[in-house]
Amino acid sequence: MSTVAVTGGTGTLGRAVVGALVAAGHDVVVTSRSSSSTREGVRTVRVDYRDPAGLGRAFDGAEAVVHCATNVSGRHGGEAELGERVLAAAHAAGCGHLVYVSIVGADRIPLPYYRAKSATERLVENGDVPWTILRATQFHELIVRLSALLTRLPLVLVPNIRFQPVSATEVGARLADLATHAPAGRVREFGGPEIENWPDLVRQFQAATGQTRPVRPIRLFGSIYEGYRDGHHLAPVGDKGTITFQDFLAARFPE
Ligand SMILES: NC(=O)c1ccc[n+]([C@@H]2O[C@H](COP(=O)([O-])OP(=O)(O)OC[C@H]3O[C@@H](n4cnc5c(N)ncnc54)[C@H](OP(=O)(O)O)[C@@H]3O)[C@@H](O)[C@H]2O)c1
Repeated sequence: MSTVAVTGGTGTLGRAVVGALVAAGHDVVVTSRSSSSTREGVRTVRVDYRDPAGLGRAFDGAEAVVHCATNVSGRHGGEAELGERVLAAAHAAGCGHLVYVSIVGADRIPLPYYRAKSATERLVENGDVPWTILRATQFHELIVRLSALLTRLPLVLVPNIRFQPVSATEVGARLADLATHAPAGRVREFGGPEIENWPDLVRQFQAATGQTRPVRPIRLFGSIYEGYRDGHHLAPVGDKGTITFQDFLAARFPE
């Protein structure tokens, strides 16, 4: 049994990591910008990520840090600065292992957020704390969120790209396992069990939520679209979860 700190343990992935760690009998310290609480096996500490001393205190006594907090907006320094602070505090607290979760294709699709993920991977690789980096494909929750946005319009226009949606619960379990083993560097990418066209995923979402609007695949232009169209965000030869998008929808939207 060990103590593991989870940044952003309040988020979609972070909650799954925390659940897997607690189930395996480990003590967990969650860092959050907004809440503090204590429950069986989990202490949530409110931190300001710009305060190195406070962050270091939160990590004190943790054998490993799983870094799941993320700054998608890029405001107040962005993902790389957040990573730099977490890395420095983990080092100062004497943590022996930093686990960072990134995205498949972060270095190949020129989205600003992906560039920041890729820059953070390099910081972790070159940092002073022994590390593990796991890249995952898009979570089911994200596909649902994006699909819900697109299906607000009377005609549902969906970029004609593929996704390999993965269960955040299964990614979380993999991260928890990695965190409680020796630092492993870059490990095999983790993706969902199936690669499907996004328009088909949107149709599945509509069926699960009782919508019938017509779906039209569309082609976009530019290097970001081309990166997705060419499948750089897919992990056909990586490790795979077992929970399909259909399974996720059935659990999320029971009849
Ligand atoms: N979503 C996907 O499809 C996907 C796929 C592959 C990899 N990933 C990676 O998985 C990680 C977690 O993603 P997620 O979808 O679980 O994210 P999420 O649900 O948005 O949760 C992230 C947590 O980060 C904290 N946070 C938000 N803004 C922050 C900021 N500016 N500074 C510090 N903390 C902040 C929040 O916790 P508090 O409000 O409690 O502080 C939030 O609960 C990210 O690194 C992401 O890149 C995601």
